Amino acid sequence: MSSHGEAIPMIARRSTGLSGEAHVPGDKSISHRALILGALAVGETRVTGLLEGQDVLDTAKAMRAFGAEVEKRGDTWHVQGVGVGGFAEPDQVIDCGNSGTGVRLIMGAMATTPIAATFTGDASLNKRPMARITDPLALFGAQAYGRSGGRLPMTILGARDPLPVRYATPVPSAQVKSAVLLAGLAAPGETVVIEREATRDHSERMLAGFGATVTTEETNEGRVITLTGQPELAPQDIVVPRDPSSAAFPVCAALICEGSDVLVPNIGLNPTRAGLFFTLREMGADLTFENEREEGGEPVADLRARFSPDLKGVEVPPHRAASMIDEYPVLSVVAAFAEGKTYMPGVKELRVKESDRIDAMAVGLRANGVAVEEGEDWWTVHGRGHGNVPGGAEVQSHLDHRIAMSFLILGLATKDPVRVDDGGPIATSFPIFEGLMAGLGAEIGRVE
Ligand code: S3P
Repeated sequence: MSSHGEAIPMIARRSTGLSGEAHVPGDKSISHRALILGALAVGETRVTGLLEGQDVLDTAKAMRAFGAEVEKRGDTWHVQGVGVGGFAEPDQVIDCGNSGTGVRLIMGAMATTPIAATFTGDASLNKRPMARITDPLALFGAQAYGRSGGRLPMTILGARDPLPVRYATPVPSAQVKSAVLLAGLAAPGETVVIEREATRDHSERMLAGFGATVTTEETNEGRVITLTGQPELAPQDIVVPRDPSSAAFPVCAALICEGSDVLVPNIGLNPTRAGLFFTLREMGADLTFENEREEGGEPVADLRARFSPDLKGVEVPPHRAASMIDEYPVLSVVAAFAEGKTYMPGVKELRVKESDRIDAMAVGLRANGVAVEEGEDWWTVHGRGHGNVPGGAEVQSHLDHRIAMSFLILGLATKDPVRVDDGGPIATSFPIFEGLMAGLGAEIGRVE
C-alpha cells in the first residue's frame, strides 16, 4: 500500500536510446525549509519552483495548522509568516505523511514556543527514530511524549523559557542539525551545533538569507555552526533550484541504457549534495557538467549523461557519504552494470531512512541476479557488467520512493523486466517521474 491509497504496481522494461531534456522538480530539502522559514518570517515570502510532492504539501498543511497562511497563486507559493515565536497551537494532529525531514524540522521549529503539538505519519515514518531530535530539544526545555523507542505518534510540549543549546550531533544528519538551529531561533543567546562531518547546509544558507546571524567555522572538533537567537526574519523571494537527488534517476538511467544521451538542466552542485556525480565519474561514467555557473550563491550546471558501457566498480570514500546519502540506492543499481565490486562503507544511516535502504536494495538486487554483501554500516555490490544483469523479479518498495525509483531504473537495462509492488511513494518526492522518464523514451509503466 502506498501512503495515500491503493498500491500502484509498476514495471520497467529494457530501453535503449534515452534522449532529450529532463526537467526535474524543485529540491525537496530547500522546499521544506522555504515553507518553514517563510512561516517564521514577518511578512510574505514568495516561493517559485517549489517541489509539489506529497512530503512538501504535508509541510505546507502543517504550517497552516501553526497559523501561517500558505497558498499557491499562479506559479507562486505565498507564505504569510507569523514571526519567530509566533506559532499558534494547532487544533489538529500534524500528519507529516512519509516525511522525516518535514516532521523533524517542524518539531524543532515549534519546540521553543509554549504550545503543544501532536505529530504522526504513515507506517514508514512511524517506525523511524525521533529520539535523535527530542534529545537535543529537551536541552532547550521541550518535553516529548511518544511511543516506545521514541517513535511517532508523539506530542511535543514547547519550552516556555527556552535556554540556548550547544550540541554536538551524534549522527551525521542535516535534519538533526536543522531541528536544533530552528529551535534556537526562539531561544535567547547563541545556539551552537557541532557536526563532525559536513551535512547538507541549506538551513545555514537559508537562515542567513532570511537575515539571521549564522556563522560556520571549521575547527578540530568539526564544523561549528553558531546561530544568534531571537532574530526577526525578513521575508524572501525564493527560487527553489532543481533537486540533484531527483536528477540522479534520469542521469543513472542514461548511463546504463545503450545509446542514451540525456541533458538534465539546472542542477545544483552544492558540495554537500553532489557526491553521487563525482562517484559516477570515478566509475568511468560519461557525465559532464555543462554551462557551469553560480545561481543564488550555489554552483549550478546542466548535467549531460551518455551511455557508459565500461563502468568500473569503485570504493566510495566514507567521508563522502553525507553528500550522497539519498543516492546510494540508485548508485547500487549503476554498480550492478559495472565490472567489479562497488564497496560502500560508512553508511549506517541508510538503515533508518524511509526504509532500511541497504536491506531493501540488497534483497531486490539479489532477486534480480546481482550478488550483494552487507554489514551493519557497509555493503558491496558485485557488478556483472553491461548486458549481463538478469532482472525478471518483483521487488518491494517498502513505502520508500527512492527504492521504487531505483528498481525501475534497474529494469531499464536488465534482460527481463523488473516489477515494483508499489510505485505510489514516488509521489512524495518526484510526482512527475513516470511522465518524465517516458518523455526520454524509458519504458516504465503501471501494471494494469
Ligand atoms: C535531509 C537530510 C537527510 C536526507 C533527507 C533530507 C534534509 O536526512 O536523507 O532526504 O533535508 O535535511 P538525515 O538528516 O537523516 O541524514
